[in-house]
Formats: sequence, C-alpha cells, structure tokens
Amino acid sequence: MCGIVGYVGTENAVPYLINGLKKLEYRGYDSSGIIVGKIEGGEPKFYLYKKAGKLSQLVGVLPKELSGSWGIGHTRWATHGMVTDLNAHPFYGNRNKVAAVHNGIIENFQQLRADLQKEGVEFSSETDSEVIPNLVEKHYSGNLLDAVQKALNEVIGTYALAITCVDEPDKIVVAKRGGPLVIGLSDNAYYIASDVNAIVGNTTRVIYLEDGDIVEVTKDGLKFPNVINNDYAKRVEEITINAHETEKCGYETYMEKEINEQPESIERAFAGRIDMENATAKMSGFEDDIFKRTKKICCMSAGTSWYASYEGCLLFEQIARIFAYTEFSSELRYKNPLVGEDDVYLAVSQSGETADTIYAMKEIQEKGGKVFGICNVVSSTIARQSNGGAFIHAGPEIAVASTKAFSNTLIIFYLLALKFARQRGMSKEDGLKFIKQIMQQPRLVKETLMNREKIHAVAKKYCGAKDFLFLGRGLMYPIALEGALKLKEISYIHAEAFAAGEIKHGPIAMVNENAPSVFLVPDDYLREKVISNIKEIKARKGPVIAIGVEGDTELEAIVDDFIAVPKVENPVFYAIPMVAVCQLFAFYCARELGKDVDQPRNLAKSVTVE
Ligand code: G6P
Repeated sequence: MCGIVGYVGTENAVPYLINGLKKLEYRGYDSSGIIVGKIEGGEPKFYLYKKAGKLSQLVGVLPKELSGSWGIGHTRWATHGMVTDLNAHPFYGNRNKVAAVHNGIIENFQQLRADLQKEGVEFSSETDSEVIPNLVEKHYSGNLLDAVQKALNEVIGTYALAITCVDEPDKIVVAKRGGPLVIGLSDNAYYIASDVNAIVGNTTRVIYLEDGDIVEVTKDGLKFPNVINNDYAKRVEEITINAHETEKCGYETYMEKEINEQPESIERAFAGRIDMENATAKMSGFEDDIFKRTKKICCMSAGTSWYASYEGCLLFEQIARIFAYTEFSSELRYKNPLVGEDDVYLAVSQSGETADTIYAMKEIQEKGGKVFGICNVVSSTIARQSNGGAFIHAGPEIAVASTKAFSNTLIIFYLLALKFARQRGMSKEDGLKFIKQIMQQPRLVKETLMNREKIHAVAKKYCGAKDFLFLGRGLMYPIALEGALKLKEISYIHAEAFAAGEIKHGPIAMVNENAPSVFLVPDDYLREKVISNIKEIKARKGPVIAIGVEGDTELEAIVDDFIAVPKVENPVFYAIPMVAVCQLFAFYCARELGKDVDQPRNLAKSVTVE
C-alpha cells in the first residue's frame, strides 16, 4: 500500500513531490510527508515535513519558500500503527542521516526492531517501515547504495523503497520487491513514483523496476548494480498516457467523470477485437487452442473485480456452456488449489497491482497453471507476469470506487464468452447477433446515463436510510452485489445484496418502512420470479426501487420508484446499463450526504499489501 515519489534534478523538487503525491493519493490518504535536501552554506541539509490526514494537511504546513534539489515523498495507507503524524513517512534513522519512504510490509520487522533496540536505536513510530533507515544507517560507511544492499539482505517482506542520505546530496537509492516502482528519465531530472501517472507530464521515458532491482539515482544518471555493464538503456520505455486523461475535465469529482466516460471507454474495450467475417472475437493475448480445449475457467480477483468476475463466470456458463467459477484471490492463494492442465485461469484486476491477486496468480503458476490477466493498467505487475490476457482499455481510473473498469471488464467477458461459444456450437448467425449487441452497449449506457436527473431525485429521496437491500437473480445477482458495494464504499450506508430468491430465507427480517430495497429487474426468464420477491417486500411495507426495462408499466405500477434502462434484444446485455444506474445512485447518495466521493474513508484504490 501507499504511494512513493522521488526527484533528483536541476529544478526545485517540491512541486513534483507534491503534484506526484496528489496523483498517488488514491493509494492511500491517511497521512503524507516529504523530505527535501539542499546545499546551504556549502553544507547539505534536510527538511522534513509530515502530517496525518489528506495531502492538503501537509501542504498547509509547508513553508512557501521550501525548496531542494532532491527529495522523496510518501502518501500512506495505514497497516502497522495508527494514523498519526509520528507514524507518517518519511522516517529518519536515529542519527538523522538517512531518511526513507516505504510501501509494503517488512515481515520480520519485530525481530529487526528488537535487534536494533539492543544496539541502542530508539524508535519514534509503531510502523514496520522505521527499521529501514535505521538498518541502512547501521551499515552506512560512506556509500548509500552499498548500505542499502546490506540492509535489504536482512529484510524479509515486500517493499518499494526510496532512501536518501544527507551525506550524499542529490542521490536517492530505490529498491523494489513486491510494490510497484517506476523511474522517469528526462534531460535534467529523474522522477521516481509508484505509478507512472505521477510522472506523466514530466517525461515520456520510463523504466519499470523489477523485483530485486536496487538503483542509485543521481543527477548524472542511474546505477543498476544488477544490470550487466549498467546497460539499462534497453529497459527504457516510451509511455503514451496523456496528462489530460488524468485530469477532472470540468467534473467536480473523478468518480462522476469516470461514470460518464463509460460510453467511450466501453467502445475501447471491444475496438479491434471484433472478427465480423468469422462472427467471433479476436483475443490475441490468448492461445487459440484454449478456446477448444478448456473444460473449466477459474477467475481470481478482489472487490469490484471479483463481482465483475462473478458476472463473467455466469456469462461463460450461460453463453458458452463452460464450467466457470470465481475465487477471492486472498482465499485461493491459501487453499492449496487443484490445478487442472486444461483449466484456464483469469487474474482480473483493474490496477494489476492487488497483492492478493498477484500472489494467487503465482500460486497457480507454480502449480503449473496458465494465468491470463484481465487488467486495466498496461505496465502493471499482473499484466507483466501473466501468461497472456487482455487489457480492458478503460483509461486511467482515479476515483477509489471502481466504475468504468467494471463495465470494461464485462465487455472482455462478453468477448471471451463469444469466442468460447463459437468453438462450442454457437451458430455464425447467433454470433453476429451477439456482436451487434456488444456494439450497442455504448449507446445503451449513454441513454441510461441520460436518466441522471431521475436517479438523482431517487437518491435524494432515500439517502437518509440507514440500511439498503440490493436484490437480483441470475445475471443480476453480481450486479446487486456491486450496487451495494458502491453505496457502502462512498456513502457509508449499510447495504447488503442477496440473490432475490434468498430473501425469504433470512434477510427479509431486515425489511421495514425505513429500509429500501433496490431490485434489478430485466425482462428475462426470471422477471416473474423477481416480481414475486418484490411483492414479498411490499407486503411487509418495505419501500422498493426497481431498476427495470423501459416500458415495463406492470413493474412500475407495483414499486415506489422506477428507474428505466433501454430495452435490449438479448437480456444478457442488461448488466452494464443496470450497473451504471447503481453507480450514479451511489454517487448521488454520497454527494447528498456530503461525503468525499473520490477518497472514501479507510479505502485505497490499489491494495498492494496482503
Ligand atoms: C481495492 C479497491 C476496490 C477494488 C479492489 C480490487 O479494495 O478499493 O475498489 O475493486 O481493490 O482492485 P483491482 O485493482 O485488483 O481491481
């Protein structure tokens, strides 16, 4: 967890450190801090500031004239230790010589801390990270790179680290094992960040660090001791992200922008992937024979990606008649999973950096399975370490609550289901009809989003409720789960989702006049069953909001509030329009309640610790 930045160059480090941290705040916003170094009166000096709370708290305490030619910074998502100024990074070693920022978990920190304490080191925080600058100081004898290498030999755990020493001006040593880290190279500066988005706008040339890399960064260049002859030039990549993609573009929040971007982002997910001639999908990141050979598909993921995976598995089963199931990455990793030779494994992750999913993927690979990544972030660990896969091309998703990535992931699942189905008996004619439906999704979502005023009004009416139920059957059950998650994440209203047929087996006890139920009601073979479930709620005075199909007047008549989505030919295509309604509903509830929509409490967008 956490975000790291660093700068060494000819200009003032502070603006990059602060702007970079702003871009990384999605990785944690419990506290932040920076340390900058400069030569004053011929002597190198450090200036350190750190503060609990959002980045604005730190900015508020920085002196206007603060400057330095090098520096490191950090934004924290607390793991070890409370959210306090003292537990914020950077940390000094006891001698105030070495300072470090850390993302990850030092698993043997207690032992290291006890050993250091025996040697007289005093600790100011409760964190695991504070052992790092102290270990480096212990090994320091005039060469920071050397000291970091020696210190890391003693460390067990995961880390992305940026470390600096007051005796070696204009130098930062970075190291990676687990957490992501990228270095941007320009003519007069080097930029360090956990995510390339923090670097965008400063340079287009970057090196993604790999596990085991330790790099010395100075104004004069990079030193990669583990790269033969220091020939790192071939690792330099050009990035194509447009700075504009990471701006709010007139919206007040990223979440609203990202919800509204969906018609275009969805189109990018299927662009270039339709094979009209053969009425199938082109999925070049998957070996062709797996579409014939595979008997079973297993998805591994977390959070919103898990709900998307669940929907994907239902689609695989319904459309391609192939057995598919989804696992929480955090569970799969530890269950000693059976890995079948002909099984296909999909690691589904917007960020491609979720630690649980990375480890689950490794577990499967170690047992001989092939894992394909379904990711948004192109340079991510999952994308690089998987055996192939597909990018969802949603574009940068900044708001902590995931929206467009969910929809784009579903498009990939539609394409994969089509490809599997065409190898297993779906006719060419049906294949073409299916493609037509995929291509209509952007228009359908656009029309759905045009209903925003109605959705806003319904949100306004109900956002005072303390408990919500989200209910759907079949393909709508994962959408209900995702709808409830969105509401919980950003408005903190208690919301639970159930398969609508299950409410009579317990959850119906929650129903009362003040606990609204949101029903997802497509015009599919389960509609009548869902209407019976609605009646069960109405009979107990529970308010019902139905998200249903345009023109379903029978449904509209029996519920308190009705939000329509446009009609589709094949009901398997209601998932994205219906989830878009849930996203806007959660967004408006949170906004009405005055919550911080983009940075909800306790959450972080990319959870890079177990
Ligand atoms: C975090 C985020 C969720 C996200 C989940 C999985 O918990 O708060 O919004 O769905 O991680 O992230 P991934 O990047 O793997 O899709």
